[in-house]
Amino acid sequence: MSDALRLPTGATFLVNPALDRDLAYGPEQREILSLDGGAAAYRAISRWDGYQPTPLIALEAMARSTGVGAVLYKHEGRRFSLKSFKALGGAYAVQRLVEQRGSAAGLTVTCATDGNHGRAVAWGAKRLGVTAIIYVHETVSEGRAEAIAAFGAEVRRVPGNYDDAVRASAEAAAANGWTIVSDTSWPGYDLIPRDVMQGYAVLALEAESQGATPTHIFVQGGVGGLAAGMLSYYWELKGAQRPVVVVVEPVQADCLFQSALAGRWTTVGGDLDTIMAGLACGEPSELAWKLLSPGADAFVTIPDERAADAMRDLAPLGIAAGESGVAGLAGFRAIAGDARVRAALGLGPHSRVLCIGTEGATDPEIYREIVGRDASEVEGSTA
Ligand SMILES: Cc1ncc(COP(=O)(O)O)c(C=O)c1O
Repeated sequence: MSDALRLPTGATFLVNPALDRDLAYGPEQREILSLDGGAAAYRAISRWDGYQPTPLIALEAMARSTGVGAVLYKHEGRRFSLKSFKALGGAYAVQRLVEQRGSAAGLTVTCATDGNHGRAVAWGAKRLGVTAIIYVHETVSEGRAEAIAAFGAEVRRVPGNYDDAVRASAEAAAANGWTIVSDTSWPGYDLIPRDVMQGYAVLALEAESQGATPTHIFVQGGVGGLAAGMLSYYWELKGAQRPVVVVVEPVQADCLFQSALAGRWTTVGGDLDTIMAGLACGEPSELAWKLLSPGADAFVTIPDERAADAMRDLAPLGIAAGESGVAGLAGFRAIAGDARVRAALGLGPHSRVLCIGTEGATDPEIYREIVGRDASEVEGSTA
């Protein structure tokens, strides 16, 4: 199945034409991400105040309705006080930076964000007494900008989309001697994004210790860092026996899907306007793409309605999940009814599908608009 398949759910499915399942996870890959690096990230992060593994929740009714053995939802809405997995990446990279310099004195960090990464960098900077200046683009919600400022960071809003904010923060860093802590890499800038992605390995380590043992992973992609982090963990651990990894993106911001289709790193332009704000990225991380290109099994795009449906369907289960947070699950549900896709992915009654619920209600206003209830009511006082 080498062509993209359009499904009645509005999803599009593509088997990765460049997939090389027999490729060993060798030195080239380990230089980007490694199990050793993941273990080091776990040792560091598990010592932070308030650390607890996030819940791994079995969605039994969804498993039945999609004809698989288990659907497991790793609920990152419970990650520290940040309500997103991004805490693992941005804050860990700030800590590594301070360790490498030997001190936080005089250090100013900056990044671009659509919300969650900037919040993680601001939180990590505050923990260690570092100054943070965070760039957001014009459609980042006020709620998300305020959540960053709440950690003491200066928030600067710039015209354009996420990729424009990346450029603005890079220019300001060059002019002022600040350090960029980006979740995406570009030529000549990859050490810090590597630390960011390496922090995400904690998620996979936790899921394994919680007994996830997935046969399939549906993981949403913005620049691809999280997907690469999950893939690399299982690829190095299990080689060709690793779970099938499916990357899910909004149809309006499908740079990873388009890269797979084109057979090379590719960007998409426009305003990338999707409710899945955390995934509104037009340029893949170069480092992430180096792993995803040979290693990801398939790519899926979904329209916004599928994400909104998934948010509404999780609410009665007591799970308040954000627009980007549900995208992996929404992608799985959008393809699960198609016999050709099931066959291509080997999905069946014995499959254990791990979906990464990457955020909770990180913008409570937007959550209420979509779901019709307050996140705090859905999750009790913890949301
Ligand atoms: C909630 C959420 N999920 C998923 C992602 C995607 O992560 P990545 O950009 O590493 O692909 C993001 C990125 O900001 C996010 O905020």
